[in-house]
Amino acid sequence: MFRALLINSENDKPRISELSEDVLRRDGVLVKVEYSTLNYKDCLAILHGKPIIRKYPMVTGIDFSGTVLNDPSSGFREGSKVLMTGFGMGEKFWGGHSELASVDASFLLNIPSGFTMKNAMQCGTAGLTASMALLKLRDFGLTPESGKILVTGASGGVGTISILLLKKLGFHVIGATSNKENVEFLENLGVQEIIETSTLNSAKILDQQKWIGAIDTLGSKALAGVCAHTFAGGAVVACGNAQGMDFPTSVAPFILRGINLFGLDSVYQTIANKKRAWELLAQCLTDYDLDNISTEYQFKDILDLAGRLIENRVTGRLVLRIQES
Ligand SMILES: NC(=O)c1ccc[n+]([C@@H]2O[C@H](COP(=O)([O-])OP(=O)(O)OC[C@H]3O[C@@H](n4cnc5c(N)ncnc54)[C@H](OP(=O)(O)O)[C@@H]3O)[C@@H](O)[C@H]2O)c1
Repeated sequence: MFRALLINSENDKPRISELSEDVLRRDGVLVKVEYSTLNYKDCLAILHGKPIIRKYPMVTGIDFSGTVLNDPSSGFREGSKVLMTGFGMGEKFWGGHSELASVDASFLLNIPSGFTMKNAMQCGTAGLTASMALLKLRDFGLTPESGKILVTGASGGVGTISILLLKKLGFHVIGATSNKENVEFLENLGVQEIIETSTLNSAKILDQQKWIGAIDTLGSKALAGVCAHTFAGGAVVACGNAQGMDFPTSVAPFILRGINLFGLDSVYQTIANKKRAWELLAQCLTDYDLDNISTEYQFKDILDLAGRLIENRVTGRLVLRIQES
């Protein structure tokens, strides 16, 4: 038997349930999940179901790290330390909020050298997204000499890891936060300038040019403001919608200043792209960095935490210790 956060149907409440191993697919790699996380998307799935959960019953959790117990395809040795993010996990097939997971071998990665299973989930999907966003800015050609980089939703999971990576690579970072209480936390991360998210929301369509690049986790008016303040020829990576799905702007920043707007979906990236992003995380981030931006909780705390995260009453990454200690 194993424990998993199960939602049986659209109208069912999520609950940690005891399940038999027989319910797991037999042709997948069987993994003993050690750590998972609570992401914004997980909370939407846990609290609202749709549009994240595509079929029921569902076990939530869009990422996990753990130890391989058995791989019928023999690609992974028993005892291998692995991680998995995305590919529809916790949406289309059962996810990481579970003591056991059985998944497709082609979706799994070995934990990158220098990282522990806990480090992997201190980063989790948020860290992977931050790393991919940063790689997009670098591949575009931005360097620390190009100018300042803005990170919105700065105290959130994607935000904090974006800041850490940018700082390690020598960039001057501006953080945008909606909560003044985060200022000290962000300064300790090394953010050189802090702005209030409300100033982005109220920007003109074309406004004073302030940064050459940006990683945006908010969408909506904030993203419009990010583009409005980006220097001509700069680059913005849109990777989140914590403020909303809309994008109220005009073509002006794109045709009058040549702003480049990149979309980012870290969920269905190729395994090679994911590996590249994980290697950057493992090269740049230490235990100290990751302990500073994350808090470990027990699996049993998950429902309470989901409510707090969706109301923006948490800071940084929420790591879940799945096995009982
Ligand atoms: N594209 C992808 O593949 C991908 C992958 C992972 C996540 N995402 C998305 O990226 C976004 C951030 O994810 P996350 O895991 O970092 O979430 P998170 O930890 O909840 O952080 C989001 C941050 O945004 C700010 N915020 C939240 N609600 C807000 C609101 N209504 N108005 C303005 N600011 C608000 C808060 O930062 P402050 O308190 O500092 O303002 C919050 O900490 C989410 O939309 C998530 O779905 C996308």
